[in-house]
Amino acid sequence: MQPRAVALAITACALLATPGQAADPPSPEAVVDAFEAVLGPIRTHRPSHAKGTCAAGHFVATPEGTRLSVAPTFSGQRVPAIIRFAVGGGNPNAPDTARLTRGLSIRFETPAGDIWDMANISVPIFGSPTPQALVEGLLVRRPDPATGQPDQARVNAFVAANPATTYQGRWLAQNNPPASWATTPYWGVNAFRFRGQDGEVRHARWVFEPRAGTLRLTEEQMRTMPADFLADELRRRVAAAPVEFDMVLQFPGPGDDLTNPTVAWPDDRPRAVVGRLAVTEVAPGPGGACDPISFMTLDQAPGVEFSDDPTLHARTAPYAVSLSRRLQ
Ligand code: HEM
Repeated sequence: MQPRAVALAITACALLATPGQAADPPSPEAVVDAFEAVLGPIRTHRPSHAKGTCAAGHFVATPEGTRLSVAPTFSGQRVPAIIRFAVGGGNPNAPDTARLTRGLSIRFETPAGDIWDMANISVPIFGSPTPQALVEGLLVRRPDPATGQPDQARVNAFVAANPATTYQGRWLAQNNPPASWATTPYWGVNAFRFRGQDGEVRHARWVFEPRAGTLRLTEEQMRTMPADFLADELRRRVAAAPVEFDMVLQFPGPGDDLTNPTVAWPDDRPRAVVGRLAVTEVAPGPGGACDPISFMTLDQAPGVEFSDDPTLHARTAPYAVSLSRRLQ
């Protein structure tokens, strides 16, 4: 057995040996191994949101954003941004009509050199309640070498034992994909702690709301649109005028779960518009400034700090491991 396969087998055994009990979080390597178990070695593209286009622009916080966060990104000055729009899943050739998430990843870099990375999706919820469920869900979908297909009975048993892993798929089944990367909200999904100018710390989730409004593909368009239209459509829009999104914070109400990203908070929760992102350039073709980096889901403490959500804490290191394998 190859060393990687041994590591994978050990991880799988550790995860499966204690059904129903909280297992230790998987190591960053085990997370990326699990993606590779399903997708094969990842050397040329990201294992998640593999298909993407680089863009650039800037972010300016509103006075309310400056009040709610002492982080440099919310100073109210213009903060340059490296941006990546993407189509979810591990296939770099996924059709733009696929019922998958769309991604909006942003690296803010202030003129003083403060960097803040985030990766957002076009669905308000994530597909796994814990990092353990993410890894286990990937491992049960490993193709059987004999058939090239996952063992459907094992997949069914996993899904029955982990219903929260189906919520995101159900949302995607009920909401057609966006007609443009510019016409969908993108949610940060995990809760963060915002430290305001008044010293108070407030939990919040964010969403980037499109100034162009939300527009989805019709069923007819899903059948007839070409496999690659999103990048050119965005280039045409940005050539005419910047594509803008309002960054909106949503604050939890009593009983809202701060640590489970598979459950959205109710729409009637208080909100605050904390800034505006403007997309002003789109790479003319493949490659660009977003390609050699990973949007690692960072905090920007003090000002924007991690909540106790375990899936949030399990993001940064695997993103770095994934990038290092890609750069090998
Ligand atoms: C346990 C939790 C998670 C793990 C282990 C995980 C893992 C990963 C990994 C390994 C990558 C590839 C990074 C790279 O190669 O550069 C990735 C990319 C991505 N993830 Fe996650 N992820 C998690 C949660 C989430 C959540 C909650 C969201 C939704 C907001 C999300 C959205 C994305 C997006 C949009 C990308 C593509 C980033 C880009 O454009 O470069 N992930 N994820």
